[in-house]
Amino acid sequence: DKIIAIVPAAGIGSRMGSELPKQYLLLDDQCILAHTLDRLLGHPQISQVIVALHPADEHFAALAQASHPKILTVTGGGERADSVLAALNRADEHAWALVHDAARPCLAADDIDRLLAARSEFPQGAILAMPVRDTMKRADPKGRIQTTVSRERLWHALTPQMFPVASLRSHLAAALSAGALITDEASAMEWAGEAPGLVVGRADNIKVTHPDDLRLARLFLTRANS
Ligand code: CTP
Ligand code: MG
Repeated sequence: DKIIAIVPAAGIGSRMGSELPKQYLLLDDQCILAHTLDRLLGHPQISQVIVALHPADEHFAALAQASHPKILTVTGGGERADSVLAALNRADEHAWALVHDAARPCLAADDIDRLLAARSEFPQGAILAMPVRDTMKRADPKGRIQTTVSRERLWHALTPQMFPVASLRSHLAAALSAGALITDEASAMEWAGEAPGLVVGRADNIKVTHPDDLRLARLFLTRANS
């Protein structure tokens, strides 16, 4: 199979609270997005990496990875799903796409390997995910505990999320025009009645969301290939 990666990198990182979009914040020797791209570009089975950028992006062109022969850039959209759809519109419809957040720089090669290996078990596609470990509470409107939610069969959705380009593109486009709440690729597939597989991923594949996450990412980066 032809395997491509899609990297939504068109966000503004409002929760990070820095002027520079978080994917361009420095993490050791290079920015977050550069680390993320290295993980994907370095994987032997990934033949192309399509990066969705903000229409006003001023930083991508300066990255060393920008001129890599596997890289293609597209202009992203208002929501993450719009950015992913813009990239899918430029993708080979016979390929499999691994959609991976720019803001997850600690992706390890063995996570990619395990996900790719799940294609035969889950021909509709699959995502990396982690079983929920903590006791889960649902709050009432006053911030008090209303109830304990069973943790049984509850998972955290991570990325990459892996689907055939053609089915993801058509389901994502249809779900978006129907106004469905789409926060990841799997939710578009679920909306269309498919049941993507869950593949256990590593706990250190964190999404850099808040300033504190930078410290964790710096720690996990050094271990990501160990
Ligand atoms: N993203 C995107 N296009 C958007 C919004 C988000 O490509 N319109 C990307 C981000 O760049 C990020 C990934 O989707 O790599 C995950 O989104 P998130 O962590 O929410 O990043 P931001 O939207 O940038 O951050 P925030 O929600 O705090 O503003
Ligand atoms: Mg966001």
